[in-house]
Amino acid sequence: MEKKQALELIDFIHQSPTNFHVVANARRELASAGYTLLSPGDAWNIEEGGKYMITCNDSSLFAIDLSGGNLAREGFSLICAHSDSPTFRVKPSPEIPVSNKYLKLNTEVYGGPILYTWFDRPLTLAGRVLLRGEHPLHPVPRLVNFDRPLLIIPHIAIHFNRAVNEQGNPLSKQKDMLPVLGMINEKFEKEGYLARLLAAELDTAPGNILDFDLTLHEQARGCLCGLDDEFISSPRLDDLAMVHAGLKALIAPRPVPGRAKILAIFDNEEVGSGTKQGAASPVLRSIIERIIFGTGGTHEDLQRAIHHSFMISADMAHALHPNYTEKHDPTNHPVINGGPVIKINANQKYVTDGDSAAVFETICRQAGVPCQRFVNHSDMAGGSTLGNILLTQLDIRGVDIGNPMWAMHSVRETAGTLDHAHVIKAFTTFYNL
Ligand code: CO
Repeated sequence: MEKKQALELIDFIHQSPTNFHVVANARRELASAGYTLLSPGDAWNIEEGGKYMITCNDSSLFAIDLSGGNLAREGFSLICAHSDSPTFRVKPSPEIPVSNKYLKLNTEVYGGPILYTWFDRPLTLAGRVLLRGEHPLHPVPRLVNFDRPLLIIPHIAIHFNRAVNEQGNPLSKQKDMLPVLGMINEKFEKEGYLARLLAAELDTAPGNILDFDLTLHEQARGCLCGLDDEFISSPRLDDLAMVHAGLKALIAPRPVPGRAKILAIFDNEEVGSGTKQGAASPVLRSIIERIIFGTGGTHEDLQRAIHHSFMISADMAHALHPNYTEKHDPTNHPVINGGPVIKINANQKYVTDGDSAAVFETICRQAGVPCQRFVNHSDMAGGSTLGNILLTQLDIRGVDIGNPMWAMHSVRETAGTLDHAHVIKAFTTFYNL
């Protein structure tokens, strides 16, 4: 069972190379579970007990199940995760010929990838292409995923850099990290090469392509590894493991209706959440308002619903690293396959406090799964996530949690097979409350 869920996660991630594909695949799964797509630009006809989903920029998604209890008296059970991962974004006019023989692409770093993990592995290109539409305000978005080994970022040979394995060996994002697309041949015309490649893939004319949001991805599929397949090795576990677990929990058959439920998959967490589809925008608050008012609630009911709601901000966590135990807190050592991790920070980089940690601890006990705690080594700055940012829009109780993993922001990350099953159980229990 645990392996089956981990393999499903690996499939989901492989089919979701970009934030846009995450949303498209989640939408498909929710639609077959009875969720109706609402467009923010239409008048909503919200029915009590209905199941709805709303997207923003096709890269964030909000699924709402109103089949639970009374909104004003009980509020929402909310799970948040994010659709984006660190990568390289293709720049405009990206073609760079080298010695008239090689064609490489100009890119810009998105978020904080561990740069040297991206060398020497077949990469592919995926994202969104915008085609000419009927109206200037409405270009037509099309998803593209080449899903074949298309590019590579070759590392320099050790003979040209003897210091390559020594510390303090810096990498230039502009010089060292550009991927090679192919050899220049007689068909090659530098101008618009990528546009022609995209046009052929989308079966349209190059002139129809207005712009694109394209990023690089490891092409190889993730796999289980370890003596007993106890590890999941895959790209983008941060944060697609939490997206997948949230989805599984939301559409799980339930013995009791529970409370009203929201799964919020925000975009742009890796770059600070400050976009219209990110957690710093009013997007989720607006949806909640429209639901409360659309079901006949008052402003007073909205305030009560927010007060009674509870958020699980789900983003991956750091497991004790076998080679760097000294980087971790002396007494709190969350390990892989030891269960979901509650993240705690005295200076409130995480939303967790004693009250919300107690809630999540109880949920895990009720679900029959172990639960661990993470705090930074006091001399390390540590990370943050979207939970706090969302609090500026919604003053809601909440906890920051995530499954323990190694190598966060590597092109290929490692998490626990058992932990994925654990967190799905914990989320399902939360949605059943
Ligand atoms: Co994350």
